[in-house]
Amino acid sequence: MNQTVICPGSFDPVTLGHLDIITRAAKMFDRVVVAVLVNSSKTPTFSTEERMELLRDAVSDLPNVDIVSFEGLLAEYCKNSGIGTIVKGLRAVSDFEYEFQMAIANKKLNPGLETMFLTADADSTFLSSSVVREIGSMGGDISNFVPACVHDRIAARLRK
Ligand code: PNS
Repeated sequence: MNQTVICPGSFDPVTLGHLDIITRAAKMFDRVVVAVLVNSSKTPTFSTEERMELLRDAVSDLPNVDIVSFEGLLAEYCKNSGIGTIVKGLRAVSDFEYEFQMAIANKKLNPGLETMFLTADADSTFLSSSVVREIGSMGGDISNFVPACVHDRIAARLRK
């Protein structure tokens, strides 16, 4: 069976934690669609196009990964594109309630849609895009937190 999964998120910007989850999903499934989406409770620092561009470069060595963006509900997009599985990373107990809520809501909207969680790599449990933004905007070293190929662009953009 050809299985396509979706990894949705804000990716504002992509971190090594995101890349770890995407890379592991790409090994497990035939195709991974990474979706750069609107989270209505957040105001993004990077534009959608910037976030997609950074992700495209970060996954350029993964041939079965595509980057997309769309407006509207994730559950609807999955229904219309025949995607039956969402893959997300779980870093800590603090992620659980929010992720659980989204998984249940998505399943209510699209009963055929499953959410699978991959446990975050030990080095990424503390890591988030907001930590990267905070450190980067104060000129701190973010090289341990973001993919090397996009480090300079993210660091320069955050220093602005
Ligand atoms: O990286 P984030 O911000 O935790 O990702 C959250 C995201 C973008 C996956 C979520 O807000 C989302 O799915 N947005 C698309 C609109 C939607 O379907 N909202 C209902 C979610 S239950």
